[in-house]
Amino acid sequence: DSLKSLVSVKDFEREAAKNLAKGAYDYYRAGANASVTLQDNENAFQKLYLKTRVLAPRGPVTLETTIMGTKVNTPICIASTAFHRMAYPAEGELATARAAQAYLHTPIKLSSWSTTPLEDVAAQAPDCLKFMQIYLSKIPEVNKDLFMRVKNAGYKQLHLTTDTQILGKRENDVRNNFSLPPGLTMANYNKYQKSHGEEANIKSSGKDSGLAEYVKNHKDANIGWEVIGEMKRASGMPVVAKGVMCAEDALIAIENGADAIFVSNHGARQLDTTPATIEVLDEVIQAVRSSPRPTVEVYFDGGVRRGSDILKALALGAQAVFLGRAILWGLAAGGQKGVERVLEILNEELKEAMMMTGCSSIEDVRKKGKTLFYAEDE
Ligand code: FNR
Repeated sequence: DSLKSLVSVKDFEREAAKNLAKGAYDYYRAGANASVTLQDNENAFQKLYLKTRVLAPRGPVTLETTIMGTKVNTPICIASTAFHRMAYPAEGELATARAAQAYLHTPIKLSSWSTTPLEDVAAQAPDCLKFMQIYLSKIPEVNKDLFMRVKNAGYKQLHLTTDTQILGKRENDVRNNFSLPPGLTMANYNKYQKSHGEEANIKSSGKDSGLAEYVKNHKDANIGWEVIGEMKRASGMPVVAKGVMCAEDALIAIENGADAIFVSNHGARQLDTTPATIEVLDEVIQAVRSSPRPTVEVYFDGGVRRGSDILKALALGAQAVFLGRAILWGLAAGGQKGVERVLEILNEELKEAMMMTGCSSIEDVRKKGKTLFYAEDE
């Protein structure tokens, strides 16, 4: 089949660009402002050079590890990205979830802004570890009800996105007056639109990106760190702080009871000219390890396009690595099969990089840590 000729994530992006309407491709591709960090997120991995270890003794290579105590087949997870029915209208998030189920029971995180209800998505990935990304509504009852639905559907962690009280300026979305195509909604909110007047549609007024207008008008911009405790009490679930980019915030998150820290700059879509995520990962890990709760796990995303990128994040101490755009390109190029193929490419590339750096397990990668790299020039 035609997917066979696509052998890298970059190939999938080119193929996806052919299939997507301009407004959709622009939305998926976008970084904030001049997209300096968008480039940096990808390029910064190249500053870490891997040290090959030749003829090193090793057994079979395994990618098995744990995430918050749960066994998983791979540390490579699917990140929360909005609106999958814009990439693949027939099935949207259902295709993504089926791919996760079919390929290694890949851990999967669903966006609050999915175009398919969270229960329907969960049903397609019964054996996957599932996480739910949270944007808080201004309406407390909506949040509480959503947490209960998430828990009942079998999701195991809430990932609070901490970096999006306002939406970053994505210039093409402003030019395009980004709106959801007819028929698509933020499906998790459909029921609240009727019961509480919570908005589920994204329609630009013609002055700005419809999504930026939506966040301004409907999301709670005045939340602080106390929401972590509130969410834990309301849901009875672990809460992960997504969007941490410095040691100071990692420590505050830990003080406020975060169950894990997620290093992310939102795929460079919020504030431009922040550092690449791989450049701050070590700082955050060191802060966590020297905190009162040193065993708190750190998750990572941003700019991952290669198995070697994943190896580097794991070696620096990330417990799991998440894929944003790579998954969207797979979905747009070939639906479920496209996502499966992207997952396979990255898992295989990670294995190859492990073999050639003398690692046979993820534990091994973590133990060897920075010795997998040549020392950086001071
Ligand atoms: C995102 N991201 C995101 N994050 C979040 O917490 N909730 C969301 O709904 C979305 N939606 C979204 C849409 C699109 C199109 C993109 C590209 C990103 C951010 C996402 O979770 C993740 O942090 C980045 O995508 C990781 O960077 P890469 O892998 O895309 O480079």
